[in-house]
Amino acid sequence: MEAAPLLEVENLSVDVFGERGVGRAVDGISFTVRRGEALGLIGESGSGKSLTCLTVMRLNPSPSTRVAGGMLRLDGNDLLRLGEDEMRSYRGRRIAMVLQDPMAALNPVFRIGDQIGEALALHRGLRGAGQEKVALELLGRLRVPDPARTLRSFPHQLSGGMRQRVVSAIALAGQPELLIADEPTTALDVTVQAAYLGLLRQLQRESSLAVLFVTHDLGAIARVCDRVAVMYGGRIVEVADVGTVFRAPSHPYTQALLRSMPDVTRRSDRLDPIPGQPPSVFARKQGCPFAPRCGEAMPRCVEEMPPERSAGPGQVVRCWARGAA
Ligand SMILES: Nc1ncnc2c1ncn2[C@@H]1O[C@H](COP(=O)(O)OP(=O)(O)OP(=O)(O)O)[C@@H](O)[C@H]1O
Ligand SMILES: [Mg+2]
Repeated sequence: MEAAPLLEVENLSVDVFGERGVGRAVDGISFTVRRGEALGLIGESGSGKSLTCLTVMRLNPSPSTRVAGGMLRLDGNDLLRLGEDEMRSYRGRRIAMVLQDPMAALNPVFRIGDQIGEALALHRGLRGAGQEKVALELLGRLRVPDPARTLRSFPHQLSGGMRQRVVSAIALAGQPELLIADEPTTALDVTVQAAYLGLLRQLQRESSLAVLFVTHDLGAIARVCDRVAVMYGGRIVEVADVGTVFRAPSHPYTQALLRSMPDVTRRSDRLDPIPGQPPSVFARKQGCPFAPRCGEAMPRCVEEMPPERSAGPGQVVRCWARGAA
């Protein structure tokens, strides 16, 4: 039996305000993350991935962005209706986030032990010897060599990979059910990335952690994720199991994206960049956002956004040329 959804995002829209007016950067997206599963979120730069993540934490910048509609539920609780105090009690304890730059998440003037300790005190009321014991355990779970010494270190004394493990330890300090990781390995070099991703997958499986994982890296998706959602122009155009996405991508955009990205599983090294540009968030919205760049576009595609259609078991696609209603 499939696990119950932990996070349910339903028809979520987020507007951004800029010099050119209002744009809908997240445009009616729906997806779920089940307990203990890792969902990958993939798509070109500007497609709305980070804004989606921030909005789930209700940390989307204000007043430059605003939720325009839809629902966000965690374990059945409507996050958009929580007061700020209640939402604060969810952050860290139920939903935590790891971002691209670990240095930005750490305070340069405090020792690692103080920073992990602060999270343990805040989320779990742990202090003194009990706190230190759990901090050491957390670093151990993140395979940090010499945890005791690391607790006494300052952020600048650690390597980039170790910093990201420390940031992850802080994120996991409150024993969250959902971890949002927005390009957590982009700032790390390749071998360190691989080690971190392996670790993330292991932690996720050990503690049935649900993960929403944003990346540009298909290899990372293959390593970490169970399912993948593909975003384009603020919309989710395809959701499928990770194996299906690689073997039988359905949406013309997903297919083009796979051809445009380097991939460990592919025999040929040739990359085909997608011609044209992604749409501006401020452009007038009508039809499928990918239609202007799509080799299969029909007149209907520029007029009307297709609804979700089924393209196979567990595979949902929004394309008039694919799937069945
Ligand atoms: N605070 C903001 N104010 C105005 N516009 C914003 C703001 N945050 C995001 N946007 C716009 O919303 C769109 C989506 O941005 P987002 O950061 O979610 O993209 P992304 O998919 O994460 O891209 P990348 O892969 O480059 O990280 C972009 O057009 C961006 O310029
Ligand atoms: Mg981003």
